[in-house]
Amino acid sequence: MRLQDCHNFSDFRELAHRRLPRAIFDYIDGGADDEVSKRRNAAAIEECDLVPNILRGVKDIDLSVTVMGQKLALPVYCSPTALQRVFHHDGERASAAAAAKFGTMFGVSSLGTTSLQEIRKAHATPQCYQFYFHRDRGLNAAMMQSAREAGVNVMMLTVDSITGGNRERDKRSGFGIPFRPKASALLDFILKPAWGLNFLTHAPLSLPQLDAHVDLGGTTMSISRYFTEMLEPDMRWEDVAVMVKDWGGHFCLKGVMSPEDARRAADIGCDGVILSNHSGRQLDGTRAPFDQLAEVVDAVGDRLDVIVDGGFTRGNHVIKALSLGAKAVGLGSYYLFALAAAGQPGVERALSLMQDELLRDMKLMGARSVADLSRANLRHRGNLSK
Ligand SMILES: Cc1cc2nc3c(=O)[nH]c(=O)nc-3n(C[C@H](O)[C@H](O)[C@H](O)COP(=O)(O)O)c2cc1C
Repeated sequence: MRLQDCHNFSDFRELAHRRLPRAIFDYIDGGADDEVSKRRNAAAIEECDLVPNILRGVKDIDLSVTVMGQKLALPVYCSPTALQRVFHHDGERASAAAAAKFGTMFGVSSLGTTSLQEIRKAHATPQCYQFYFHRDRGLNAAMMQSAREAGVNVMMLTVDSITGGNRERDKRSGFGIPFRPKASALLDFILKPAWGLNFLTHAPLSLPQLDAHVDLGGTTMSISRYFTEMLEPDMRWEDVAVMVKDWGGHFCLKGVMSPEDARRAADIGCDGVILSNHSGRQLDGTRAPFDQLAEVVDAVGDRLDVIVDGGFTRGNHVIKALSLGAKAVGLGSYYLFALAAAGQPGVERALSLMQDELLRDMKLMGARSVADLSRANLRHRGNLSK
């Protein structure tokens, strides 16, 4: 199977499966506990049906959106994810460059494996920086300062990860940073020599966003220890309000699920919320973000930008979210598997397929731009909204 044989998410996932050692594939693919939320995320989108319009003159389609002050050529962006150089040796640089080619935003994770400055070189279009709330307030301030100096456009605080999710696939394989594979997983690494060779012949793995400010003891601080020891379990609204004020620019919370929390985010000055359950990797059993979208848009859509992620792998999925009032959709696993499958050309192919699907489906929907989509274009078998 080659990159040109990939026509959708399942194909990228399959190619990544062939190229990656099982433990790494499972880190991307897995969810928490029984992975119920992970499955629900995708299922929820499919339970909603599109109702197209006809005869509306759809020769030219405009896919652009403006979200948190950023003009994006596509209504999708690459959501921040950790450890991309583990998936492919070019890691974040490859994803960022591909996102730039398509005129959209790339989210840099504070657990990323490439520095903000290096990513910035590959990526001139809007950039957002995702970070967590640490016990050490000085560290939070230093990270915001680095982001400011690197020209970051949007700060994104992830609020659904006060502690790490129970990812049993990782427990079985021994996946973590540092990586101590179980004996049973070692054979799989031997069977994927191309990945191993690339991994070993490129710069050693580091977490530059954190390394710049705190001594993690090389890579000896495990990600799970990072969550339990360094993040602030007592984080509160007042703390985040101070951060939003200090930043003074575009600021959003990622991992909001309820209308009440979205209202509070607006109250403290956020200009965006991202409805997300972290791809079902944190609290299992949560409702799908897609199913919360209408309620949250109704509650705060006139006060801030509502964005959604979780399970979006097709242009028609994105159109459903936009019809419900989302300003943009975050892609996670969709582009990560493409990255793992083929690096930058892989992410470019994934974004190109998404763009083609969006253009085709907007025409078939009778919509010239996102503004033409509305709830009249959707029917749900359950309860979408009043
Ligand atoms: C392998 C992986 C790593 C992730 N790392 C982070 C991270 O460091 N910070 C964060 O806020 N979200 C992280 N996420 C969540 C994504 O930003 C996004 O919310 C999610 O992937 C969207 O769901 P989807 O994968 O179904 O598209 C990660 C997701 C995956 C799959």
